[in-house]
Amino acid sequence: MSKDVAKLRSNRWFGDKGLRTFGHRSRMMQMGYDPIDWEGRPIIAIINTWSDINPCHAHFRNRVEFVKTGILQSGGFPLELPAISLAEQFVKPSAMMYRNMLAMEVEELIRSHPIDGAVLMGGCDKTTPALLMGAVSMNVPSIYLPAGPMLRGNWQGKTLGSGSDSWKYWDELRAGNITRADWEGVERGIARSYGHCMTMGTASTMTAIADALGMTLPGASSIPAADSNHITMSKAVGRRIVDMVWEDLLPTQILQLASFQNAIAVAMAMGCSTNAIIHVIAMARRAGVSITLDDFDAASRKVPVVANVRPSGETYLMEDFYYAGGLPALMKQIESHLDLSMISVTGRPLSEDISNARVFNEDVIRSIDNPIYEEGALAVLRGNLAPHGCVIKPSACSAKFLDHTGPALVFDSYEELKECIDDEDLDVTEDSILVLRNAGPVGGPGMPEWGMLPIPQKLLRAGVRDMLRISDARMSGTSYGACVLHISPEAHIGGPLALLRTGDIIRVNIRERSINMQVSDSELEDRRASWIPREEPFGRGFGKMYSTHVSQAHDGCDFDFLQTAAGAAVPEPKI
Ligand code: FES
Ligand code: MG
Repeated sequence: MSKDVAKLRSNRWFGDKGLRTFGHRSRMMQMGYDPIDWEGRPIIAIINTWSDINPCHAHFRNRVEFVKTGILQSGGFPLELPAISLAEQFVKPSAMMYRNMLAMEVEELIRSHPIDGAVLMGGCDKTTPALLMGAVSMNVPSIYLPAGPMLRGNWQGKTLGSGSDSWKYWDELRAGNITRADWEGVERGIARSYGHCMTMGTASTMTAIADALGMTLPGASSIPAADSNHITMSKAVGRRIVDMVWEDLLPTQILQLASFQNAIAVAMAMGCSTNAIIHVIAMARRAGVSITLDDFDAASRKVPVVANVRPSGETYLMEDFYYAGGLPALMKQIESHLDLSMISVTGRPLSEDISNARVFNEDVIRSIDNPIYEEGALAVLRGNLAPHGCVIKPSACSAKFLDHTGPALVFDSYEELKECIDDEDLDVTEDSILVLRNAGPVGGPGMPEWGMLPIPQKLLRAGVRDMLRISDARMSGTSYGACVLHISPEAHIGGPLALLRTGDIIRVNIRERSINMQVSDSELEDRRASWIPREEPFGRGFGKMYSTHVSQAHDGCDFDFLQTAAGAAVPEPKI
């Protein structure tokens, strides 16, 4: 490993001793640094998405110190650069609206500063794709440090899973089966340590994808946030990134077509969140790799769900998954579906990274001959209701909805839905298809996680726990049920979903991958002629930029101008 200091990017800021670098050097000294601290050392940005209102990243203020230790141990110089913290539960109208903002911030933080390599600290849902999108567009050596899942929830001797059990007990409360006091007990017990959601939600899915892509230390994504191994891993990340700079190991060398295909196979085997589709498409395109909805559908038909983790599984959570061997063990189980020649941040092929992996609990990490679901986690449907596609998670819905025909009950907004859904006079049966529209990337705005539409209270009381639901929204990865999501194009921009009316008959056939409204083309043309577009959600500000430039769900919801093919590469800043 040659250590050519002159080739370091940061050398442009600090290398010569003239007037231009005087300001940089003297201002470093203003902070108490001495040239010995930085000279001849790679400068490593630690992009930290900690904030006082992000419970999933609450430990990052502590972990960053261990990353710095690792960087110093390896002869680097650490600089912590904070970036916007997208706490899924708190950021409105949806953290999704700000994913691209964080991606831009990461790219520009690295570009505008004297940075040779980057540690990316994230974990809560959108932070993983955002950090990776920014890093790959900037393309300096980068390594991802996943926050790790929180510990299992606990209430009255029962294990609680993030998200999934809140929906479940909310329905039980609405059905009159549990008390208010019970509900408050669930509230207090469901999230009891720092770390991201510990079900197979978007966070666990996306950090596993980052791991499978090769952007984390092998298996790092499975380590619970509160486990001391997470501290050890944080130091190892710091040590490794310095060597990656000297080796000039770039994200684009790691992120190849086959690594994205590996990540998709892993996502399927994990019983992944539907959100994975949008993020993987966006990340891949930043790396110059074309991934479409069809790649997910094809993988889904081949790779079974082997991670027995809620909500696809019934019992276990991410903590159990780690004790059972974690992601390397899962990758070993599905190695026939992976290209093990792809390299990771270790610089080694996956075959070496996972060579010692073992499964310690065969009920948690199943073999491909004994999966929890024969087919993969996602299905892509198309038809006159979704010409550009939509998705459903068959592993999380009742079997009777695999082929279902029923009348639509359409809501134009979330407010309207909330107002009407529990009305005792609502004309609805368990065969009705609940539809929410104007909840897409532009219309939502920000494509909120409203896709698991609530079951009407009167049906809940009658024992109904699943219905077919359709929307242009997303749903939380911790949600479940027969929910068709990400209808593209969305209603707000005039997709055919905008033309649907209550009472129209819809057929969804998951085996045939189809979704159609039984309305003739000429009738649809008439309806289009009288369709009135809704008002734009934003007149100014970031929201205006967002709604002007965001792409549709099947294209990954990236901004058009951020995509790699948008124009010439951005030059290095003049110094
Ligand atoms: Fe942060 Fe679920 S709220 S991962
Ligand atoms: Mg979530």
